[in-house]
Amino acid sequence: MATVELNKKMWDGNYEWIKQGEEWSRAWGGSEAQWSAAIMPRIHTFVPTGTILEIAPGYGRWTNYLKDYCDSLIAIDLSESCIKACQQRFSDSLHITCHVNDGISLEMVEDHSVDFVFSYDSLVHAEADVIEAYIRQLSRKLKRDGVGFIHHSNIGRYQQIFSEIEKIQGTMRESIVNKIFLSPKHWRASSMTAELFSGFCDKYGLTCIGQELINWGTDGLLNDCFSLFTPKGSNWSRANRIIENTDFMNEARLIRKLSSLYSVSSIPDENKIDPR
Ligand SMILES: C[S@@+](CC[C@H](N)C(=O)[O-])C[C@H]1O[C@@H](n2cnc3c(N)ncnc32)[C@H](O)[C@@H]1O
Repeated sequence: MATVELNKKMWDGNYEWIKQGEEWSRAWGGSEAQWSAAIMPRIHTFVPTGTILEIAPGYGRWTNYLKDYCDSLIAIDLSESCIKACQQRFSDSLHITCHVNDGISLEMVEDHSVDFVFSYDSLVHAEADVIEAYIRQLSRKLKRDGVGFIHHSNIGRYQQIFSEIEKIQGTMRESIVNKIFLSPKHWRASSMTAELFSGFCDKYGLTCIGQELINWGTDGLLNDCFSLFTPKGSNWSRANRIIENTDFMNEARLIRKLSSLYSVSSIPDENKIDPR
């Protein structure tokens, strides 16, 4: 189980953060390429906007881009060292405020003040009880026409397979998990699914308007999900649309290939021109 305590231990101590999370963007050719070709196409309808709430920014891999798409940004993470790092990294951006939380509470956010809530590559490690608590509070924190994009685990969908694998003894078990997932489960929260997420939204006056089930770092299992949601009756409301995307890593491979040609970081520093 990926409990809040284990997350705190991992991200506020065990993990070294030498590259500020940039290491997780390697498959896309870097965070700039991942942001512009994998994340922006999925959220461009909702930004720029007024207030963005980012849950679990880590060292600010996405905050670095989100900050340019809003009037104010609130970043909340359970790790004190991550929030300290964000405060240092973005000390020049006076419209960003950073808070440490207990892994559950959003009490530092004013009710009905958030236009867009975003979380990427973080809450995949949050179990269903934590996701439910965040959704419950978000129903109050979002404005009437607010919207959310949250990346979470869908690995609960395969719980049955995993419990069968758990019964296998010794090293054989690890090699089966590796074969199915390419690398072992990526520490996904085993209790979470896309269905649960949309159920939590319904329960608390929100509604899921889109869910993309993806094969994050795997060969075809839909272990993760991006959920789009909004308050019931908002301007964004529509029936949920669900897409099963088993090409997510193929998309990453293509982005990586193209990034060597098109990304800002592919241009030698001395040739860069400030477009302004
Ligand atoms: C893998 S890092 C990713 C950070 C950042 N989103 C990125 O992509 O670089 C996971 C982050 O989620 C935070 N986190 C995990 N569970 C959390 C929770 N329940 N509430 C708030 N932050 C959480 C951790 O402290 C850590 O900063």
